[in-house]
Amino acid sequence: MEVHQVHHVRTTVDPDDHPSPPLPEIAFVGRSNVGKSSLLNVLCRNRRLARVSRTPGKTQTINYFEVGGTCYFVDLPGYGYAAVPDAVRAAWGPMIEGYLERSSRLAGVVALIDGRHDPTALDRKMVAWLAERGIPTLVALTKADRVPRGRRRPRIEATAEALGLDPEQIVWFSSRTGEGRDAVFSAVDSLLRQEVP
Ligand code: GTP
Ligand code: MG
Repeated sequence: MEVHQVHHVRTTVDPDDHPSPPLPEIAFVGRSNVGKSSLLNVLCRNRRLARVSRTPGKTQTINYFEVGGTCYFVDLPGYGYAAVPDAVRAAWGPMIEGYLERSSRLAGVVALIDGRHDPTALDRKMVAWLAERGIPTLVALTKADRVPRGRRRPRIEATAEALGLDPEQIVWFSSRTGEGRDAVFSAVDSLLRQEVP
């Protein structure tokens, strides 16, 4: 996987509207403001690729980024943020779910969870939903720069327990310091090396 040639190829609200050519896809999911767009930018070493904002609900569409002709990274809207108007939120559920459920090209998902807190009910629901469908998932605990080193291990263990995952499936990540960038990169790379079902 070559991240030096990543570019935005499509913005859509239609979960079945995939870009051409067909390539494996890696999607980034998590609640609004957890840091999905920021992680994508750090992963691709391009601060201006996906739009980031302090205000939750920034990403409102499905955004495809082509990664050096080998795959697409898919930036999705976040879930679970109350300040987003009901009508908008109601449209996102089917959009995210429709995409995750029907994308036959989906090679795996990076599920982002705020590392400062326990997973929310929606985080647990999302991870369980991905597991039920057999979608390979890596959990990234974001905003690691806000969590002292001494609390890292207990947070991983609590998260693994809450989500019913192996601690090996969980990595720390900070878009501020770049911590975890290489771990997420190599996990994504190995997801891409598996056969897409
Ligand atoms: P939506 O598009 O609204 O779903 O949000 P998102 O998940 O894409 O989050 P985004 O990347 O836009 O970041 C949300 C806010 O969190 C911004 O103010 C970022 O600067 C901040 N942020 C993102 N990652 C980190 C991090 O690792 N550490 C800290 N301290 N702040 C972060
Ligand atoms: Mg976003």
